[in-house]
Amino acid sequence: MPPRKILLDEDELPKQWYNILPDLPKPLPPPMGPDGSPVNPSMLERIFAKELVRQEVSQERWIKIPEEVREIYMVWRPTPMYRAVRLEKALRTPAKIYFKNEGVSPPGSHKPNTAVAQAYFNMKEGVERLTTETGAGQWGSALAFSCRLFGMKATVYMVKASYQQKPYRRVLMETWGAEVLASPSDRTEFGRKTLRSDPDNPGSLGIAISEAIEDALSNENTKYTLGSVLNHVLMHQTVIGLEAKKQFELIDDYPDVIIGCIGGGSSFSGTFWPFYYDKVRGKAPKDVEFLAVEPKACPSVTKGEYIYDHGDAARLTPLLKMHTLGHTYVPPPIHAGGLRYHGMAPTLCLLNVEGYVKAVAYDQVEVFEAAALFARTEGHLPAPEPAHAIKAVIDEAIRCRETGEEKTIFFTLCGHGFFDLQAYDAYNNGSLQSYEYPEEKVKEAIRQLKEMYPWIASK
Ligand SMILES: Cc1ncc(COP(=O)(O)O)c(C=O)c1O
Repeated sequence: MPPRKILLDEDELPKQWYNILPDLPKPLPPPMGPDGSPVNPSMLERIFAKELVRQEVSQERWIKIPEEVREIYMVWRPTPMYRAVRLEKALRTPAKIYFKNEGVSPPGSHKPNTAVAQAYFNMKEGVERLTTETGAGQWGSALAFSCRLFGMKATVYMVKASYQQKPYRRVLMETWGAEVLASPSDRTEFGRKTLRSDPDNPGSLGIAISEAIEDALSNENTKYTLGSVLNHVLMHQTVIGLEAKKQFELIDDYPDVIIGCIGGGSSFSGTFWPFYYDKVRGKAPKDVEFLAVEPKACPSVTKGEYIYDHGDAARLTPLLKMHTLGHTYVPPPIHAGGLRYHGMAPTLCLLNVEGYVKAVAYDQVEVFEAAALFARTEGHLPAPEPAHAIKAVIDEAIRCRETGEEKTIFFTLCGHGFFDLQAYDAYNNGSLQSYEYPEEKVKEAIRQLKEMYPWIASK
């Protein structure tokens, strides 16, 4: 009988994170100011802890995980890796499907892998309160949980559409002691301005980020934290892939293809970076491929342009070279709240442009069909975000059925769907809507961006 669960002992939890920066095929384009000149990393220290800024630009390949952070990771790590035997059978595929389950963490996703680290380094520097944004509520929950562990306060600006769709996420965050505000809120100048021009604005991650940064900049002993996109955040997530490599060693297998959903790129990067390291070092036993999956409602990589843009709607952040739909993007209220971000991690975008990472986009209705099949065969109820990866896994497994290839497919189930039952209800009763983001809207946003910053055309 094939193993169903591949487990590691606590002492096999990684001692270092893997930093991809020294192994990228080209240097990462630097963050830029609005005037088109590179931003000095020390300027980022106004909003982030110094140690996190150091990690953001570090060229060290391996960075030590503090013992205090490892000790907290041990509450739920190492996470189990499963073989999806019943899904394989249902698909009649010769492929082997494995997944790492990050939904077993107390907040229910991969997000505490970085939230615990970020709260720890801020606490060490004397910061008393952290601000952040949250889309699906997963990242906000992870930060609320982590701040509680280190005796810090947390203020979470939650995208209004999610705040209304997922009231129980708010209750979870409040139970851990966080203050949760529906964004746009009247707490910040930018929130008030947005509400004045559009009182029914459903919010976006771009708007919530602006509010959280403004709050951090205008208050003492307060710093901002981000749950994805930046190098240090993705690096903290590499515990997923590092554990998975050991788990594959135990069963003497190795993935042919690694698939992951991308909102800002953190769960996918944390999963595939350690395998990318094998690949570029010539140590990978197979020519492993990497496939990123996004929603058609927010197709940053598949339809966006690779260009410098701000990370937030109020243009408070530096400009990052990334695939973007334009920072003015206001998403339709689709259910994968965590995938509704206009930009993408610059490292992932560079790897896409250089041909190392491919990307596909799916509609939410076909994604929920895949999620339901997974739940009915494997039992685990996926969050809508990893359900995108599951859709691509199923398509790949069906291709293998047609070609007879016995590929090993690997993905990360980066969150459970217990707070997403409204979305499952809509799927079950047939009211879930398809939505595709119009190409013209992207073109218009990029045109405005180029008009605002003529220098970006040449960078
Ligand atoms: C469960 C889950 N998966 C994925 C994502 C997308 O983010 P990332 O691409 O950084 O993993 C989110 C974001 O909130 C999430 O909550």
